[in-house]
Amino acid sequence: MFKGVLFDLDGVITDTAEYHYHAWKKLADGLGISIDRAFNESLKGVSREDSLRLILAHGKKQAEIPAAQFAQLAKEKNDHYVELIERFSEKDIYPGILSLLQTLKENKIKIALASASKNGPMLLEKMGLTSLFDAIADPAAVASGKPAPDIFLEAARLIDVPITECLGIEDALAGIQAIKTSGATPVGVGRAEDLGDDIPLVPSTEALTFDYLKDVWENR
Ligand code: G6P
Ligand code: MG
Repeated sequence: MFKGVLFDLDGVITDTAEYHYHAWKKLADGLGISIDRAFNESLKGVSREDSLRLILAHGKKQAEIPAAQFAQLAKEKNDHYVELIERFSEKDIYPGILSLLQTLKENKIKIALASASKNGPMLLEKMGLTSLFDAIADPAAVASGKPAPDIFLEAARLIDVPITECLGIEDALAGIQAIKTSGATPVGVGRAEDLGDDIPLVPSTEALTFDYLKDVWENR
């Protein structure tokens, strides 16, 4: 049986992946760069700074942006994003997630957050989930972001569970790659077109039950 579950946040625990997209789209529009949902798939799971680099490269504008303006743009996006999530509360937890977290806890399975978002701790707090998490890996404390495995390795270290005895849950391709490289067992939330057809996938979080995770573990 697995001993730990490492959760991505945005798009797994709550719908913030959508809000990140809206905030990036607003910023990109202002720069005259057009981004769509297909392009946004490449931003999911990617750090704030790396996402901005990808957007500027997409608009062929990276050469025009000096470092001070780069930092300002990253701040603008985050300020807008923080405004969008200001009223987040328990009602924004995705279906099935609260009962999954509670069941994991009852079964003494350790729970950790492995998100690239620096807003992660604040969001867990707003949704009343902080006490259910045994650890929150700090994205600023790891050398490389997803698709590198670092944040999942750090999350497993913090809960003191060998990474090979952990499941990792993700909605982004970069995150699935990170889980695979880390040695944890991946579970994807989303479509095979986006995440690949070689891992267990659920179309939405309602299907993420404890029994489903046990089934994934037994058949890995
Ligand atoms: C997650 C999201 C990304 C976001 C990144 C950084 O990985 O999937 O869309 O860009 O976190 O989030 P932050 O809140 O620190 O800007
Ligand atoms: Mg995500």
